[in-house]
Amino acid sequence: MREAARAMPTAALDYGDPRGNVALREVMAGYLRRVRAAAADPERIVICSGYAQGLGLALHALARTGVRTVAYEDPGSPATISSAASWAGLSAIPVPVDERGIDVQTLAATDARAVVMTPAHQWPTGVALAPERRLALIEWARSRDAVVIEDDYDAEFRYDREPVGALQGLAADRVISIGTVSKSLAPALRIGWMLCPPALTELIIEHKQLNDRGSPTLDQLALARMIESGRFDRHLRRMRTTYAARRKTLVAALAEHAPEVRVTGLAAGFHAVAHLHGPADEQDLIAAAHARSVGLYGMSTCRSSHATEPVQLILGFGNVRERAITAGITAVGGLLRGR
Ligand SMILES: Cc1ncc(COP(=O)(O)O)c(C=O)c1O
Repeated sequence: MREAARAMPTAALDYGDPRGNVALREVMAGYLRRVRAAAADPERIVICSGYAQGLGLALHALARTGVRTVAYEDPGSPATISSAASWAGLSAIPVPVDERGIDVQTLAATDARAVVMTPAHQWPTGVALAPERRLALIEWARSRDAVVIEDDYDAEFRYDREPVGALQGLAADRVISIGTVSKSLAPALRIGWMLCPPALTELIIEHKQLNDRGSPTLDQLALARMIESGRFDRHLRRMRTTYAARRKTLVAALAEHAPEVRVTGLAAGFHAVAHLHGPADEQDLIAAAHARSVGLYGMSTCRSSHATEPVQLILGFGNVRERAITAGITAVGGLLRGR
């Protein structure tokens, strides 16, 4: 680790570089090159307060360059992205996602010059953007003078799928990649990072400076130390095993108590999508599960139309222990089967 971080001189208590502490930016660049195949340059990393701030900074910077419309994945995070876009003075439009990821042809037919997306593990369907779509997306960005905002939020957690590198590694001039420790460590830390394209770096730094003059230095030094010492990698290895066991428990419980229900999106992350058949009403199901003390989440909140059909439920298993997963699915198995 750089001397600056280890010895923590008093300079660490002064206002720092608005991009973030250089020790963390250097360690982070090495980590993202190694783990995400990202084209990470410490000079163009901006440490931010989670993905939430990163998205806001990216959209404000894009608005300053003349972008007027930003597209987002549907299903996805319509409420979050629409609010962040309107805060930056942009309009937001949904573009459908299918089993190969975002539909790039439909995207190209819009007037959007930016798109917010989750290429490695689409929220909430769990699909990875297919290789030909990755290339088509970059081609779209180049020909449209557009920018992709890559939300790399749960990229560390994959179980039985080949690693999918960050899109940013393929087109560092066209992609703003945003990472976060909210899934790998804890949301309360509020630490994230942005890999900025050269043409937008200064604008993003300017907005970060205006926003908060830089993220808290001591937290950054602690994270740098954790990554550099190897403890972050060890933690991720341990958590992968934990989440894989929870996922296995979920799959086994569903096979036993609701075998008709098709489950997708399990290759990575902390949630699966259950596809229900037959006459079922999303809101009735959620209310009935709630009455049995089980929290279920409907796909309707992720759809721009808020449509409740086809009926799909998002089953999170990240912060539920195995025994609770089994008990929960046992309790709602009949509901999922439509009985
Ligand atoms: C799709 C998506 N991206 C990113 C995040 C992380 O956001 P933040 O880093 O602001 O906590 C979340 C949090 O749940 C999320 O659902």
